[in-house]
Amino acid sequence: MQIGICGLGTVGSGVFNLISENGQEIKRRIGREVTIAQVGCRRDHPDCDLSVTNVTRDIFDVVKNPDVDVVLELIGGADDALKLVMEAISNKKHVVTANKALIAEHGDEIFSVASKNGVQVRFEAAIAGGIPIVKAVREGLSANKIDWIAGIINGTSNYILTEMSKPSSDLAFVDVLKDAQKLGYAEADPTFDVEGIDAAHKLTILSSIAFGVPLRFDAIYTEGISGITAEDIGYARELGYTIRHLGITRNLKDSVELRVHPCLVANDHMLAQVNGVMNAVMVGSDAAGATMYYGAGAGSGPTASAVMGDVIDIVRTDGVHSIANLGFMPESLEAKRVMEIHEVVGGAYLRIVVSDKPGVMANISTILSHHEISIEALIQKDARGGDAHVVIITNTVLEKSLNEAMQELAGLEETRGDVASIRVAEFS
Ligand code: HSE
Repeated sequence: MQIGICGLGTVGSGVFNLISENGQEIKRRIGREVTIAQVGCRRDHPDCDLSVTNVTRDIFDVVKNPDVDVVLELIGGADDALKLVMEAISNKKHVVTANKALIAEHGDEIFSVASKNGVQVRFEAAIAGGIPIVKAVREGLSANKIDWIAGIINGTSNYILTEMSKPSSDLAFVDVLKDAQKLGYAEADPTFDVEGIDAAHKLTILSSIAFGVPLRFDAIYTEGISGITAEDIGYARELGYTIRHLGITRNLKDSVELRVHPCLVANDHMLAQVNGVMNAVMVGSDAAGATMYYGAGAGSGPTASAVMGDVIDIVRTDGVHSIANLGFMPESLEAKRVMEIHEVVGGAYLRIVVSDKPGVMANISTILSHHEISIEALIQKDARGGDAHVVIITNTVLEKSLNEAMQELAGLEETRGDVASIRVAEFS
């Protein structure tokens, strides 16, 4: 089996170098060498010695090359990647990709064509970089009924929130994003990270491989971290919480929850301890219970490790298709309604800016009690110009009721502007 690498950016260069550094260790494991038949890249990478490699500037040469058995799609993006993968499959080549958008948005079509052509499509590197989460869910936990997954699956957002959370930090969101870009964590278009789209792609795939439901990127609720302020982080800390961007999916009787958004996570929960660019995924399942997987979710080495794990699986099995792409037999996938976000139930953090007058607190609690929302914790802080910040953690509430209460709170004569809210994470 020979591979063809398409794309020599952060991931492609990592794979190229991993093969030369660990080739012998890999051979000890699988009894043969993994060799590169061709590399397709628009430009060389300074860290890769391509002198003895067959290099082409046209990535489509790689999928036409008869010596290539496994195509590594590491160019990212949408249109070209889809075209490349489809051509590789119709030329009967196995595909390994790190492209989460490709799988989340076109996976059904890709898997169906791959199965007709008798080739494998593997995507471990698409989710959580170096953490073998696809393998854990699709293989390690395959005897379980999986109930829920909750994870930090965008390293850039986690890095930004971590930096903003440092007690000494007075950095604003934009400054920290610039740092994340310099460090090479952010997507080419950083709105994919900070607006939650990257996490939404990954959670879409995780939900399907966990519950055996079709890929529903079209229905996922997506909210990023761009609205989180240093003030919210400080208040949350005072109340015993850390703000993290989570992907949460739950398998319910007739529907699935599928949502990515910022959350308050209790400080003593393991996910609150996940800092910087690191990712962590918790999986709740019936036999194994809750298990957690932690590691680098991005970067050259971790992502190359995931790509090569897939390549090695294909070589080990001589390309014989042994695992359904989404971990469930295609005819057994069960289409379920994706819950609307207003149907979700949980606690919430509210921040209300009010003019500091007698009776304001009574008005707030009257509105909340009309909607049967009880208060778990409350703090009040003086703000500029005689205003006050009232910060509340509610008990469990239906999001629809919470939204109605928030509108009424915003309509109070004493309230300044909209009411800010962040969901409180629950893990069960
Ligand atoms: N931009 C992604 C992240 C890279 O920050 O997690 C890995 O998919």
